[in-house]
Amino acid sequence: MSAIVPLLLATALSGVALGIPQPPPLPLPNSKVVICNYETKSHLREGQGKFELANLEPALQYCTHLIYGYAAIKEETLKLVPLNEQFDVIKDNYRQVTNLKIKYPRLKILLSVGGNDDVSGEGAEKNLKYRQVLESSAHRLAFINSAHTIVKGFGFDGIDLAWEFPETKPKKIKSGFKKFWSSFKKTFTGETVIDEDADKHRDQFTSLLRELKSTFKPDNLMVTLTVLPNVNSTVYYDPRAIAPNTDFVILHAFDFYTPERNPKLADFPAPLYDLIDRRPDENVDSWVKYWLGKGFPANKLILGIPTYGRTWKLDEDAKIDTVPPEGLDGAGPPGPQTKDAGILSYPEICVRVQGGGNVSPQGYRKIVDVTKRRGSYAYKLPNPDTDEEGIWIGYEDPDSATNKATYVRNKGLAGIALDDLTLDDFRGVCTRDKYSILKAAVAGL
Ligand SMILES: *[C@@H]1O[C@H](CO)[C@@H](O)[C@H](O)[C@H]1NC(C)=O
Repeated sequence: MSAIVPLLLATALSGVALGIPQPPPLPLPNSKVVICNYETKSHLREGQGKFELANLEPALQYCTHLIYGYAAIKEETLKLVPLNEQFDVIKDNYRQVTNLKIKYPRLKILLSVGGNDDVSGEGAEKNLKYRQVLESSAHRLAFINSAHTIVKGFGFDGIDLAWEFPETKPKKIKSGFKKFWSSFKKTFTGETVIDEDADKHRDQFTSLLRELKSTFKPDNLMVTLTVLPNVNSTVYYDPRAIAPNTDFVILHAFDFYTPERNPKLADFPAPLYDLIDRRPDENVDSWVKYWLGKGFPANKLILGIPTYGRTWKLDEDAKIDTVPPEGLDGAGPPGPQTKDAGILSYPEICVRVQGGGNVSPQGYRKIVDVTKRRGSYAYKLPNPDTDEEGIWIGYEDPDSATNKATYVRNKGLAGIALDDLTLDDFRGVCTRDKYSILKAAVAGL
């Protein structure tokens, strides 16, 4: 366990009690950065899944930074705008969140733009506006000035760019995983061209960061970059060139396999290390090595840790004695709280898989990750008598989150980013302890 929490409380209290100036902002020596993502659309969930501002508070003593997700880009003007004007501005959620700094004076709060929440267009036009912003200095200026106005006006401490570049395309499969992999290797080089101007966009993105930083710096505002899942860093980011103009780069090195991308191919969604017979660049370690190898400083690099699992339906022919399993039939059914096919929050998973011996009372078999390389999974076979569906779940749990934090410590990286608080066990339904993934990760740092 790091000394970060007692240190935070002690410095905050002594500063207030004696009326002395606050010590310099984090990161402090020997301490790690803990970025907590807050997905605001969680206020729309129902029942136990509904997340309100009061639910944030038990997490905040563990977080050094809070990221407010998400703002948007307006297509017509290419300016930064609130994604949900009604909630963010009229109902004042921006202000209510930045006002948390009164109670948590060490907390830095950033507004994030994009994050795959701000979706526009389809096919080649999908999220085109994120590339258009880059394409001329006038467009970049419009974006930067509007971002500065909103960030400063609402009392945020900076901006995070969760930039929506085109994702790498997974190859379709005919049958069987092995076949998929070998055919993939052959066609691999020719098929990944999704953005003909990728080289230009990479250079223009470096320019955007430089111009953004020079506008934000006089006000002491931070600039961070979140690399979204399946955005290929080797295509879009030049680590050495962007290092001077970012406070942190946050790697969302997860969701390599999702039922949306791979309906017939389930696999560990967020492995820490390379696994046999998989693409060598779809794991945490390879992402980290790429950024460090290209000259990005370890003390600015942050590893993202998901707080959810990905689910696939199993059909009657399912064979689950191997991973990846066979007999998959698209996204698993929506959870009672998250209500989206193919995804379950950690508490939705833990209530299914915990308890009992080999099989939980709810009929799930859980396989924990003794290798500390790949993450946990659990499954339930279909029941032909009752017509009940089978399901396969690959997920992060407190143990695998600790493993990732330990990796961060051993590599000397800056810290971790939880994605996100609202899918962690914020009510304490698994163990009565709130935020079990966040706490387990912080303990591993
Ligand atoms: C990322 O891009 C590089 C360079 O084009 C390519 O070699 C690599 O296979 C790509 N990775 C993925 C996951 O598509």
